[in-house]
Amino acid sequence: MTDQAQYQDPRLVPLYDLINRWGADDDFFLTLANETPGCRLLDLGCGTGRLTTALARAGHHVTGIDPALASLQAAQRRPGAGGVRWRHGTAQDAPSAAFDLCLMTAHVSQIFVGDRDWHGVLRQVHRALVPGGRLAFDMRDPAARAWEAWDSAGEREVWSLPDGTEAETWCEVLDVSGHVVRFAEHTRFLPGQDVLTSTSALRFRSEAELRTSLHAAGFEVEHISGGWRGERVGEGCGELVVVARRS
Ligand SMILES: C[S@@+](CC[C@H](N)C(=O)[O-])C[C@H]1O[C@@H](n2cnc3c(N)ncnc32)[C@H](O)[C@@H]1O
Repeated sequence: MTDQAQYQDPRLVPLYDLINRWGADDDFFLTLANETPGCRLLDLGCGTGRLTTALARAGHHVTGIDPALASLQAAQRRPGAGGVRWRHGTAQDAPSAAFDLCLMTAHVSQIFVGDRDWHGVLRQVHRALVPGGRLAFDMRDPAARAWEAWDSAGEREVWSLPDGTEAETWCEVLDVSGHVVRFAEHTRFLPGQDVLTSTSALRFRSEAELRTSLHAAGFEVEHISGGWRGERVGEGCGELVVVARRS
C-alpha cells in the first residue's frame, strides 16, 4: 500500500481522468475565473491538468503546481499544456503576490488533514495572491457523510484505458475517526495482475471551521454554497463551495 499512489504511480495516473470526468464543479471554477479576463491564476494541486489546460485555453495566465511528478508529467503531455507554467511542488513553491485567483479543485483542500498543514497552506496561498485576490475551493460537507457511500464492499468497476488495457477498481473505507476518513483504492490491471493499492486520508471541515480558518489566515469569505449552483449550505449536493478574498 502506498499513500496517494493514485497520483504518484505512472501506472495508476491514467485512471484518474477516466474516473474524474468534466462536471458541474469544473464549469463553476471556469466561470469564476472568467469573471476576470486574462487573470493570473494558480491551480494548486493541478493533478493531471484537466481543468488547468482548459483555464489556459480560456485565455488565463495559468500556473499549475503539484507535488506528484507522475500526474504533472501526464498534465504536460496534454494538448494545450504549452500554455501553462507547470511547477513540481506545493504552495510553498508559488511566487509571492503573483496571482488574482487560486483554485484548489476536486477536493484538494481535504488532503490537508492536520490543522497545522491546513493553516500553513492558507497562509501560503494568501502570500501568493495579490491584495484583493481570490481563493476558491471545494470541500465535502461533513454533515453529508459522503464516506458512508464509498466502501464498494468488494464490488468492482471496470475501466478501459487509452492503451487498450482494462483495469478493475474498488474502494475500501479503512477507518473513520471524527472527520478524518482513511480509505484504500485498489486497482487490478486485467487479466489477473497484482493489485495496486493507494491509501488516502481526507479531512472533512465544517462551514464554521472553514470560516474560522480563512479569517485567521487573512481572508474574507465572499460566499460558501452547498452546491455548484449557489444553493444554501445543506441544500445542494453535499459540497461546501468556498470563495474567499485576500483582505
Ligand atoms: C483529487 S486530485 C485533484 C486534481 C485536480 N485539481 C483536478 O481537478 O483534477 C488531488 C491533487 O492534489 C495533489 N496534492 C497532494 N498533496 C498536495 C499538497 N501538499 N499541495 C498541493 N497539492 C497536493 C495530488 O498530487 C493530486 O494531484
